[in-house]
Amino acid sequence: VEKELMKKDLKDKKVLISAGPTRETIDPVRFLSNYSSGKMGYALAKAASYRGAEVVLISGPTQLKTPLGVKKIEVEKASEMEKEILKEFKNADITIMAAAVADYTPENYSKEKIKKGDADFSLKLKRTTDILKKLGEIKRKDQLLVGFAAESENLIKNARKKLDSKKADYIIANDISDKNIAFGSDKNKITILSKNSSQTMPLERKEELAHKIFDYLI
Ligand code: CTP
Ligand code: CA
Repeated sequence: VEKELMKKDLKDKKVLISAGPTRETIDPVRFLSNYSSGKMGYALAKAASYRGAEVVLISGPTQLKTPLGVKKIEVEKASEMEKEILKEFKNADITIMAAAVADYTPENYSKEKIKKGDADFSLKLKRTTDILKKLGEIKRKDQLLVGFAAESENLIKNARKKLDSKKADYIIANDISDKNIAFGSDKNKITILSKNSSQTMPLERKEELAHKIFDYLI
């Protein structure tokens, strides 16, 4: 990474990155979330900043340090993430959706702690906005839009579907069934897909991989 410090090939570029999980609140003490650590998104933010970009990081709750020079906006729910991303998107040259955004959120939030009863309990969920898809619909030609795809089966087929349906320029496919790269790992193994290309990269530390991703995109 040291020699990357000298590389300023993202100078004058504005890079917007989302990272981490979201938390969909049920009541004052409970939420729905997922195992995302935020490490891949933070590594991308750090790499872009090293390379001279102006970086905005929209982050769900994580344990991670904000990379040097990065402007971080903390959010909790998917709806907050959507709002903050939409505010920043028009200024971004490159946008990478690395966050694990909840697909569903409780239909109702209970201001009081929900009390248990003797009967079973079910929670009604409604769909959240697909932020990446929304960005794909409003993006300009001069903007680059990158998404991730977390798949446990049919990696390439499912990731290609996401590339098409969300109108992203690239999808970075992650095989979450691979034990080496389970959620929270410092390493990842990815395949970068575009309309007419596919590039699989070897298992590697997320910090190095982040630079390889920018090498590839640039
Ligand atoms: N994404 C998003 N908004 C959502 C859900 C997902 O912007 N509400 C983005 C993620 O940040 C990621 C991409 O869409 O870049 C793919 O996310 P993923 O969970 O793999 O796919 P989904 O389209 O949500 O489909 P599914 O979970 O059913 O596989
Ligand atoms: Ca999803």
